[in-house]
Amino acid sequence: MDKYVVFGNPIAQSKSPFIHTLFARQTSQKMEYTAELAPADGFKSAADNFFSAGGRGCNITAPFKEDAYQYATQLSERAKLAGAVNTLKKLDDGGILGDNTDGEGLVQDLLLNQVELAGKRILLVGAGGAARGVILPLLAQNPAELVITNRTLSKAQQLAELFASFGSVSSAAIDTLNQPNFDVIINSTSAGLSGQLPGLPESLIKHDMVCYDMVYSAQITAFNLWARDLGAGKVVDGLGMLVGQAAESFMLWRGLRPGAKQVLRELRRMLQ
Ligand code: ATR
Repeated sequence: MDKYVVFGNPIAQSKSPFIHTLFARQTSQKMEYTAELAPADGFKSAADNFFSAGGRGCNITAPFKEDAYQYATQLSERAKLAGAVNTLKKLDDGGILGDNTDGEGLVQDLLLNQVELAGKRILLVGAGGAARGVILPLLAQNPAELVITNRTLSKAQQLAELFASFGSVSSAAIDTLNQPNFDVIINSTSAGLSGQLPGLPESLIKHDMVCYDMVYSAQITAFNLWARDLGAGKVVDGLGMLVGQAAESFMLWRGLRPGAKQVLRELRRMLQ
């Protein structure tokens, strides 16, 4: 049976085995997908062991996405630009392809939620690894503009420069954003993990807009609660992005696109 695994540290919280097992059932693929805790400094030997035992592919979660980037012998363009790899695939010639499906997962989930991106003005909040991973797929949707803002402005400026040749992308200081000019605001910061808000002006929120929080939780996230209370038309959390990135990895490994909706419903029920 073809073997797949997700590596992380910690890993007990990972929903990936659940998601991929449902995908495999849905598409009648004979495969096994498990979770494995790799030691903090031991990604390389864990991956070596897995692939030399015949493993076909793996997902990589924190803190190993940069180790996986180094491990790959070939990189997709989106992985190169993300500077991080969340999916590895053993190639027929013995090489290891590194890809990053996080951004496509976000885009697919936005589209599933009927959120138009083409021609729209998007604000991306945060300039860490999570932000960097989604910029190229967002620009590929041809938004009118993608503005990156961050508590530390210089990091937003660096990201805007890095992606300048791929579309209309710029940076702006948080305190200069006081007009409700955006159709979609995407929160990629880790502020919510400690119950904090990223510090956006309230005046950005309007009724005909969408706010997307890349994190998720059983209850509404801090950012989405803030946006909803200020009257945002729609708020969406990142559970669908998790399913979307998994679907894209599955597609890379198996050549089949599984359906996200049913899996997302089951996952949401499990979270409650
Ligand atoms: P990740 O890989 O999840 O993106 P990261 O690289 O540590 O993690 O980046 C975290 C992001 O969340 C950064 O943009 C960070 O802002 P700074 O660059 O100014 O540090 C942002 N962030 C974290 N906590 C925040 C908070 N309380 N308010 C605003 N932004 C916050």
